[in-house]
Amino acid sequence: MDPYRIREDFPILKRKINGNPLIYFDNAATTQKPRQVIEAIRDFYENHNGNVHRAVHTLSLEATELYEKTRENIARFINAKNSAEIIFVRGTTEAINLVAYSWGMSNLEKGDEVLVSLMEHHSNIVPWDIVSKIKGFTVKYAKVHDDGTLDYADFESKFTSKTKIACLSHVSNVSGVVNDIKRIAKVAHEHGALMLVDGAQSVPHMKVDVREADIDFLAFSGHKMLGPTGIGVLYGKKDLLEKMNPFQGGGEMIKEVAFSQDKERCYISWNDPPWKFEAGTPNICGGIALNEAVKYLEQIGMDEVLKHERMLTEYAVEKMQTCCNKVAVYGPSELTSKCGIIPFTVDGLSSHDVALFCDNYGIMIRSGFHCAQPLHQVFKLQSSARASFYIYNTREEVDRFIEVLKEIEQL
Ligand code: ALA
Repeated sequence: MDPYRIREDFPILKRKINGNPLIYFDNAATTQKPRQVIEAIRDFYENHNGNVHRAVHTLSLEATELYEKTRENIARFINAKNSAEIIFVRGTTEAINLVAYSWGMSNLEKGDEVLVSLMEHHSNIVPWDIVSKIKGFTVKYAKVHDDGTLDYADFESKFTSKTKIACLSHVSNVSGVVNDIKRIAKVAHEHGALMLVDGAQSVPHMKVDVREADIDFLAFSGHKMLGPTGIGVLYGKKDLLEKMNPFQGGGEMIKEVAFSQDKERCYISWNDPPWKFEAGTPNICGGIALNEAVKYLEQIGMDEVLKHERMLTEYAVEKMQTCCNKVAVYGPSELTSKCGIIPFTVDGLSSHDVALFCDNYGIMIRSGFHCAQPLHQVFKLQSSARASFYIYNTREEVDRFIEVLKEIEQL
């Protein structure tokens, strides 16, 4: 793949920030959008705007066809068996909340256990904690080693006959560590538990195959993979989705709402999955634009995407460690187990100061605790600066970043 050719598709990368060429290294937060995605949004509103599944007129039929085609393509992208297993949501957070409420409320009781890891984003911790306070089950936390890698022995030893679901991020949004989800899914199933994977930082960067990994739920966001904000996906195995209650009530998610003769009772039956979980008018345009994003990534090839990011990560970490004196990089030294995310600190400076200084030079990085405070506790940090790469980043941008880091060290 040629990042210089790819850059031509991203209008925003031509911007200057504070007089400097924009260097966008905050891709774990959200990625930039190629003109194919921007064009799909414009085309939808200029030519096809109508509501889905609700009318027989041409615009509604066109919108429905485009929207449902996205569902089929996403199913193929993650190798789901059936497009009914693809539920459109706002993003990863909503997808995990959907499982915690829809599945958790009717399947978890006092005495049951939910297993999560300490490297999770808050969105894979807080929903389980909220529902546990209602239903009385226990949430158990699997340990993480000092270098940010998962303590598999601890995770596996925490499964008991009471464990009902294991929840794990595929890739950490702080360290870029890649977890062996297939291994944990196997152990979960041996204990009769389900496996939920937070794929927010993996689906945009590598081939994820839900059937090969044999996972029960997968959550991911469109905006971290070239698509717009406000659209994401929950994959769930069909037999599970069929047995689950809806998440929200409203139009679209019902088969029938009928009153008794005396108008005293209301009878409601649910629609089939995936629509059972899509109450109200969905983000139609977002879904259609996400389809373009997926096509764009498929054209490059997910193996190429991962290879490029790993090359940049290796190059950047090596330079940060050899050319800088006050920069500390966190995460495992074994870079093959990582994606393109580098957490770091500069001795004597807060992460926000580092990010502001980078911004002066047109370099966008994230600072703070990245919605993952438990992992920062493992690293014994209040916060960190984070550089994260994608398909349009180059070695020259990394070189410029290193020059700026060297200037920061003089502060
Ligand atoms: N979860 C996103 C991040 O890690 C916003 O930056």
